[in-house]
Formats: sequence, C-alpha cells, structure tokens
Amino acid sequence: MRTQVGIVGAGPAGLFLAHLLHLTGIEAVIVEAKSRRYVEERIRAGVLEQGVRDLLVETGIGERMKLEGLLHHGINLRFGGEKRRIDFSDLADGQAVTVYSQHEVVKDLVAARIGAGGTIIFEAEDVRADGFEGQHPVIRFTAGGERHELFCDYIAGCDGSHGICRSSIPEGALTSFERVYPFAWLGILARAAPASEELIYAQHERGFALLSMRSPTISRLYVQVDPHEDLANWPDDRIWEELQIRLGGGTGWQLTEGPVLQKGITAMRSFVTEPMQYGRLFLAGDAAHIVPPTGAKGMNLAIADVRVLARALQSFYETGRTDRLEAYSATCLRRIWKVQRFSWWMTSMLHHFPEHTPFDHRRQLAELDYVTSSRVGGATLAENYVGLPFDDP
Ligand code: FAD
Ligand code: PHB
Repeated sequence: MRTQVGIVGAGPAGLFLAHLLHLTGIEAVIVEAKSRRYVEERIRAGVLEQGVRDLLVETGIGERMKLEGLLHHGINLRFGGEKRRIDFSDLADGQAVTVYSQHEVVKDLVAARIGAGGTIIFEAEDVRADGFEGQHPVIRFTAGGERHELFCDYIAGCDGSHGICRSSIPEGALTSFERVYPFAWLGILARAAPASEELIYAQHERGFALLSMRSPTISRLYVQVDPHEDLANWPDDRIWEELQIRLGGGTGWQLTEGPVLQKGITAMRSFVTEPMQYGRLFLAGDAAHIVPPTGAKGMNLAIADVRVLARALQSFYETGRTDRLEAYSATCLRRIWKVQRFSWWMTSMLHHFPEHTPFDHRRQLAELDYVTSSRVGGATLAENYVGLPFDDP
C-alpha cells in the first residue's frame, strides 16, 4: 500500500488531519488500533473553542454541531459560598464556546472520511512506525490476520498519550517536561437535566467539582478525588452527595440527580515533548502533549496542531518547500505552552492540594475574587477559555 501521508490514530487529531488534507487534494490513510464503534463511543472532552467551532464549520463538518451543540457565552465560578459569572460576550469580544462531545466530533469526522471514499483501517494490531529517519517512512501493522506495509512520504503520529509513535523516536532526541498532580477527576455521565445552563467550576475545601453537560437531558459532572482512588469506593449515592456539597452547599440550590450512565477516573498531568518532529515523523495532539482537563483544552489543542501540520504539508505538496514543515514544532509549541500555562493556572486556582495551608486556601479565594471582580482579571480568563488565536502565518 502507498499513500502520501500515513496517519496513526483515529482520534480528533488523526481524523481532522485526514479531513484537512483531503480538502487540499492530499491523500492520507489512517491506521487505528480500536474498532469504529469504540472510537465513536469513547466519552472524553466536551468543550470546543470559538476558533475550533469556526474551523469545523469552514471545512464543512459543522452542520450537526451547529444544530446540536450548545453555545455558551459564559461560565460560572463557585467559591466561598458565592457563584460568579465570567461573561465571554463582554470580556472576550462576543466569542463563545460550544458544548459538543468529542465523540460526536469523531462520529462526524469518521462519516466525512468514509463518505469521501477515504481509508481508515480500524482494529489494526501491532502497529509500527519505521523508516522516518530517512526518505522512506512506512507504517507496518496486522489487519485481518495479515501483515501490511503502508509506504508514505510522511507519518503523522496522532496516536494519543499511550501510542507507539513518540516511543519510536530514538531516545535522547526528545526532551519531555512533566508535572503530575496529586489528584484525579472522577467523572460521571448522568441522565439528568443540567441544573445550570452554563458550566460551574467549583472551588471547595473538600476539593474541586465541575458541572458540565452534553445535552438538555444529560449532565456531565466531575469531583476531585485521590489519584489512587478506587471507583468501588464511590457508589452513585456518595458521588451525588459530594457533588451537592461542593457545587451547591449551603445555597439552597440543588443539582438534579438521575441514573448514572457511565463513570470513570482520569489522572491529571501536564506534559510536553519537544520537538514534535523527528525526520519524517510528526507528532500531534495527545501524542505530543497532555493538559489537565480544567481548562477544557485537550481536544482543542489537538485540532490546532493538525491545522498547522496540514498547512505545512499543503505548502510542501504545492511548492516542494519544506520550511513550514521544519517550523511545525516551533509554531505549535508557542501556542501549546500558553495553553499549558492556562490549564495549569485553572487547575492550581480551583483544586485542593494536599500540601495546602490555610494561607494557600485564602490565596485561592483572593485570586477567584480578583478574576471575577476585575475586568482585566476576567478578560484574561475569558480570552484563554474561548481560545487564543491560531497564530501561524
Ligand atoms: P486521542 O483522542 O487519544 O486519539 C488517539 C487515537 O490513537 C485513539 O483512537 C487510539 O485508539 C489510537 N491509537 C493509540 N495507540 C495506537 C496504535 N499503537 N496504533 C494505532 N492507533 C493507536 N480533555 C478535555 O478537554 N476535557 C475532558 O473532559 C477530557 N477528558 C478526558 C478523559 C480521558 C479518559 C482521556 C484519556 C482524555 C480526556 N481529555 C479531555 C483529553 C482529550 O480527550 C484529548 O486531548 C483528545 O482526545 C486528544 O485527541 P488526539 O486525537 O490527540 O488523541
Ligand atoms: C466536559 O464537559 O467534559 C468538560 C468541560 C469542561 C472541562 C472539562 C471537561 O474543563
């Protein structure tokens, strides 16, 4: 088999890259370890930045998102017994975010790929990326019981944080930067009408909590837990009780409860690898960096990376020039580090850390008071939350 760009991974990064390349007439094949059903049902992120929404619409895959996605013009911060709103319309030039599940974006992208006659090889086993140090990259994998070779000009490693692409790069060629947080999020999806129209991020001495949603009838809720917590210790009643205390405690306001459809624990870390390229292998999305979910940035960053990569590949195929490909890593990293900073900042401001003293708790409250009462403080949060501009030329 031969193609122009061989893509490992059918998450948001790999699928959107294939879509953008297709629009400019560049051929790509995606090799994915899981089944179509698995990738289309995997519950993950839910908030799209303004620029990502616009990009999905401009590239012709935003129709269902425009109908079913919920446009949010603000978020709420709850702390010290109060709830205060950050108004994006006022503080971020009328920009907004769209609440639309990652797996719905994935479904739309898979349908667009297949509709356009594109190839996605699902359930590929023993996937290997080779030859990218030289001129002849190849992706090797087993499918339908047979070993295959996919020769290509470039490989895009879009295979997430546990993929094989990053670890195929020789040791010593990459530098990693990491911070692991001393807590995790226990998340539930519940058949319950969201008790607030907009997201609520709550800082509480018992720990962080978040109210989000997927639709007018489905809530997505999270509580901060110990990183080694066992789900078995959290029967549904305990989760609801904790959510009620952290999100509403003392105000009389009550969360709407309902059957829990799904629950899971997500570890929290910040991670960046530099550079995001080695020879003819380019890393994008979670394969290159991880953010803690407090800023709602994971999927948005993945989309921003492949936007840069698609433009660089387009420039190569149209003109033979490689300068944009060579600049790929530096171009992406400039924005990635700002988004890392924002995600770390939101995480630090809103969570309870085991080493926190009463001083730290007061400091957090003062910071929350500042961002919700100062125009400049609020604008900083709003500008980052709706998404910094894509800044490649
Ligand atoms: P992924 O979505 O991880 O896609 C990578 C793809 O590569 C997968 O389909 C995988 O099956 C495939 N793959 C892996 N290894 C191989 C291989 N060897 N061969 C072939 N294919 C392979 N972000 C938020 O903003 N909010 C959230 O609430 C949130 N929740 C999350 C919960 C979990 C459990 C996780 C893991 C992440 C969460 N994120 C969240 C982060 C966000 O979902 C990711 O940033 C986003 O999925 C990144 O997209 P991606 O395409 O880079 O990687
Ligand atoms: C979600 O809806 O899953 C979600 C929303 C905001 C976040 C993280 C996750 O910051």
